[in-house]
Formats: sequence, C-alpha cells, structure tokens
Amino acid sequence: MAFQKIGKVGDVPPGTSKVFEVGDNSIAVCNVEGDIFAVDDVCTHDGGSLDQGELEGFEIECPRHGARFDVRTGEVKALPAVVSVDTFTVRVDGDDIEVDL
Ligand code: FES
Repeated sequence: MAFQKIGKVGDVPPGTSKVFEVGDNSIAVCNVEGDIFAVDDVCTHDGGSLDQGELEGFEIECPRHGARFDVRTGEVKALPAVVSVDTFTVRVDGDDIEVDL
C-alpha cells in the first residue's frame, strides 16, 4: 500500500466530484454523503472525463454519452460503456484525502 495525499475533503462537497492529477493518473474523487470514493477519471467507453458528469447517489454519469459507473466498485451501471473503471482505495486523515496508488 502506498497512500498518497491528493487533496482536501473540503474541496469536494457532498454530492460532488472533483478530479485530481497525481503523476500520470487523473483521479475523480467523489463525495457521497460524506463517504469518499476515488475512480479513474477516464471513461472506459471513449475517454470522457467522469468528474464533469453528474454524481447521483453512488453512480457517476459520463457527460459524453451517458454511461454510468458505481463509484464504490467501478462497475458499469449503464451503457454504452461495458468495461468497469478502475477504483482506488481511499482513506481520510483529518481533512486530507489519501489514495492508494
Ligand atoms: S465516453 Fe463516456 S459514455 Fe462515451
């Protein structure tokens, strides 16, 4: 496990997502009623940026063609994507969001 600090909880209000760049990774951090999740920001359908999409409950919608993913597991919830997005293990230390890369 190699947790790396990527941002502050205060930067990602509940019900929103925000992308953080960490090395070569673009990570969409999602706040679902205070619980923090992190998924790869690149949609598996055609590379849309997921953090630009709506976060509804545990699902984030790609703004390009409407694919939906469960931010807990990365699982596809709506076409046209068919492949899960990568997820990252998150821990919160005070106001710091740390992700296992
Ligand atoms: S790029 Fe995300 S649904 Fe097409």
